[in-house]
Amino acid sequence: MALALGVLISGRGSNLVAILDAIELGKVDAIVKVVASNKANAAGLQRAKERGIPTEYLDPKSFAQEPNPREAYDVAMGVLLQKYGVECVALAGYMRIVTPALIRMFPWKIFNIHPSLLPAFPGLDAQRQALEWGAKVSGCTVHLVTEGVDEGPIIMQTAVPIIEEDTVESLSARILEQEHRLYPQAIQLMAQRRLTLEGRRVRILSQKESIQGK
Ligand code: GRF
Repeated sequence: MALALGVLISGRGSNLVAILDAIELGKVDAIVKVVASNKANAAGLQRAKERGIPTEYLDPKSFAQEPNPREAYDVAMGVLLQKYGVECVALAGYMRIVTPALIRMFPWKIFNIHPSLLPAFPGLDAQRQALEWGAKVSGCTVHLVTEGVDEGPIIMQTAVPIIEEDTVESLSARILEQEHRLYPQAIQLMAQRRLTLEGRRVRILSQKESIQGK
């Protein structure tokens, strides 16, 4: 059965589009049930709508009066995702730190993509960090989301060389190209039930070992 996916975005949504394209091409056995955002004007929402995917905007300001606004927001987001029958959540340029409230609702089922080879350069502006550090290689990482920012178990990574002439823009563009290949691949592994966790290590099962259907 196709993986029921929810995608959370805050911006342009190019990774979202890459996931939708891969699904359309039959490379990923998933259905995007909903695209949700904390930003009303996230360009990615429009791109989802154009493809007939349901979209939702959840305004963080409406939770400001709650004793714990961030947790309350995440509970509401989790309930919304469950309402759409989402099984697995892909963060794609989602600019909020996810709290345990949401993680508990989707245990080991929330993915993120980050534009560096984690654990190097977590957090914001990862491409700038890599360039300023003088790293010769950076890349992108798809990982499971845990409480610590960009700290969860690594699913897949792609390396991208840094060249002398690189600017933040040129490096970001080359990394983004790889993100668009990597994220759908990682989601397909989840769709095929080929990911298992041993300690903090993600093991990728062969097709034969896959626990599909169990
Ligand atoms: C990507 O670089 C991703 O790695 C990071 O945020 C950016 C999102 O880009 N988490 P887009 O919205 O998918 O185009």
